[in-house]
Amino acid sequence: YSLKALNTFGLDAKARYFCTLHKLSGVRTLMAWQQEHPDLPLLFLGGGSNMLFVNDYPGLVVQVRLETLEVLGQDTDYHYVRAGAGNNWHEFVRWTIDQGFAGLENLSLIPGTVGAAPMQNIGAYGVELKDHVYEVQALDWRTAEIRDFSVEECRFAYRDSYFKSVEPERWLIVAVVFRLPRQPQWKTDYAGVQEQLDGKVLDARSISDAIIHIRQSKLPDPAEIGNAGSFFKNPLISVAQWESLKAQFPAMPGWPQQQAVKISAGWLIDQCGWKGQREGDAGTHIKHALVLVNHGNASGTELWAFAQRIIASVQDKFGVTLEPEPRVL
Ligand code: EPU
Repeated sequence: YSLKALNTFGLDAKARYFCTLHKLSGVRTLMAWQQEHPDLPLLFLGGGSNMLFVNDYPGLVVQVRLETLEVLGQDTDYHYVRAGAGNNWHEFVRWTIDQGFAGLENLSLIPGTVGAAPMQNIGAYGVELKDHVYEVQALDWRTAEIRDFSVEECRFAYRDSYFKSVEPERWLIVAVVFRLPRQPQWKTDYAGVQEQLDGKVLDARSISDAIIHIRQSKLPDPAEIGNAGSFFKNPLISVAQWESLKAQFPAMPGWPQQQAVKISAGWLIDQCGWKGQREGDAGTHIKHALVLVNHGNASGTELWAFAQRIIASVQDKFGVTLEPEPRVL
């Protein structure tokens, strides 16, 4: 089964088996199937916007299409909404805005699904998913029981969660409950956002529109050119390493965190001369060095080899090891 239309790099990887999960009741059938095929691995796929398929997939790929959507209610401080894992993330964000709810506007236009969002705690323009999650509902693949994870239990960190790094194969995220503040505090301090909003009334919709505009102006649309957003995480380095690098490279941007400094992978890659470079159909985006792109017919292997060369040259020049953000399979 070709996964070409199901991953935003547009890679023509094949899955040995494929199915779509529309309803939770389908889980029992899936588990029974798995018992009959104990040697085959299982992969849950959302929007395929965070995957690099280097190989064909030897097992069963399950596209998660649980698409329920409901307003649960409100208390004095928050509106509560529950979204099934299969909802398209951006459509969900715009739906909350249409309901008159705020909080997710800075996360507009991020590709992928609601269920994939907690995996890597998606974040952009000063907001992270974890800021607005009430709980994540996940199905235990061992017992078929659903458990509600509080925000603390999700162990969210920068592009990381319990589901991504502690027990990646055990849980199927089925829905996310959000709590959206009734008195929102707009986050417009990220570079470029104020300029885009100049003169407009501040609300969830105007901020969402501004973010959409900014993203469209520098990030490639996966429908036009294959990509998975930022291909590397922004590295966290020690204060000592930061000070030594800053002495050598005074223009290097950095953002202090708790006992560490987050630096810009895009800047490091750009400084190594990779922005807009291309080998065959594998390359980096002309406007953003952090975004690996497939110009058409690159294979996963070619993209991964290109990424390895970027990692090696950043290591060589700055002594910093870049880590891929997407799952490499
Ligand atoms: N920069 C360069 N050259 C480049 C690209 C960036 O020098 O080619 C430097 C610039 O100095 C710029 C800085 O890098 O000021 C930061 O760039 P940008 O504002 O585009 O943010 P980013 O750190 O590259 C992160 C997230 C994005 C998110 C934006 C906005 C990661 C890995 N990426 O990118 O998330 O949209 O901030 O908040 O944290 C994603 O995860 O897929 C993603 C797109």
